Amino acid sequence: MENLYREHILDHYGNPRNQGTLESPDVTCEWDNPLCGDVVRIDLNLEDGRVSEVRFSGEGCVISMASASMLTEAIKGKTIAEMEALRDEDIFEMLGVELPPSRVRCALLPLRVLHKGLAERR
Ligand code: FES
Repeated sequence: MENLYREHILDHYGNPRNQGTLESPDVTCEWDNPLCGDVVRIDLNLEDGRVSEVRFSGEGCVISMASASMLTEAIKGKTIAEMEALRDEDIFEMLGVELPPSRVRCALLPLRVLHKGLAERR
């Protein structure tokens, strides 16, 4: 289990990137992990079809919050199509640890929130 909390994961958890909310975001979505009730919200603005600003907020475990922080960094400057193309494997790669099944939903919650927000935007 200690392998799960590698330095970069703890760094993102302790010093989350892009934490907060946006006033009137072009895309916004909040969703929970039904297994634990933890919630992640992602807000983003687009400029010329690319992410110009992004924030996340929520309450969650180390893995879900670190994943959200890493995801917001990864999508800056990306197009909608590029964000839609992000797969579960991309998140696992960012986290860089072997996740036990109980933690997979935690890791993927932010990506699910992002994809739901993009789908609802249409
Ligand atoms: Fe709730 Fe991880 S335990 S998101």
